[in-house]
Amino acid sequence: MRVICTISEIREIIREWKKEGFSVGFVPTMGYLHEGHKSLIEKASSENQRVVVSTFVNPTQFGANEDLNKYPRDLERDTNLCEKAGAHIMFVPSADEMYPTTPLTFVNVNILTEGLCGEKRPGHFQGVCSVVTKLFNIITPNRAYFGEKDAQQLAVIRQMVKDLNMDVKIIGCPIIRENDGLAKSSRNTYLSDEERKAALILNKSLKHANELLLEGEKNTEKIIESIKSFIISEPLAKIDYVQIVDSETLKSVDKIEKPVLIAIAVFIGKTRLIDNFTWSN
Ligand code: PAF
Repeated sequence: MRVICTISEIREIIREWKKEGFSVGFVPTMGYLHEGHKSLIEKASSENQRVVVSTFVNPTQFGANEDLNKYPRDLERDTNLCEKAGAHIMFVPSADEMYPTTPLTFVNVNILTEGLCGEKRPGHFQGVCSVVTKLFNIITPNRAYFGEKDAQQLAVIRQMVKDLNMDVKIIGCPIIRENDGLAKSSRNTYLSDEERKAALILNKSLKHANELLLEGEKNTEKIIESIKSFIISEPLAKIDYVQIVDSETLKSVDKIEKPVLIAIAVFIGKTRLIDNFTWSN
């Protein structure tokens, strides 16, 4: 596996691969890789002849008060994981390589970005869509792999690809969890031991919602209130949002009739964690 830092070099390699007729799978990440990323890379490697993983902490998707500067980084660890999972190239551009001049062009997806994380993190999805478009233009993958933990991101990227006729197939991959149920995330590393225990409240509250749904509860307000009281029973937890939305339009629903996404964002101390599941009856 090779680590490539420049756009010109990776383009050259990909041109050669395409000449040979190789299919290219792409896993965009912000590094500090974990089992969730590993599962994406392994899937990409099982479905494509060549696999590129990018690790780039994209500044344009972080808000002013967010964790850009302390976002965890460990290139050596990432390189080992990528190699073991079957990647051929790690693309690790610098911020200057990706943004040599202040960009004047952005990609925005409307409506789908209005609620959930889009509402709480203004500008976030513009940053994500713009950098993913740039990465797609650089790598020109046949398939690109995204985790379902960022369910809104996945829906937004699918829409962007459809609306802009991008020639890439988007593959969503299931959430990977720790043995105790906490969804894997690079941000879990911020948690102290006490916070790590408290963070279990995210998955527990979703399990609780699942039970209500299994019992036949259809009223979303009741389910949301019940999830909220579950979360606030944990003293270290502070709710950012609890929402139940149509799984396709991402619009809030009052009654559960079609498949829905039950999505939560919770601060555990200063660390903001997200989790979700999709319910269809
Ligand atoms: O999901 C992420 O890690 C990022 O949002 C992505 C897709 C790599 C864009 O920076």
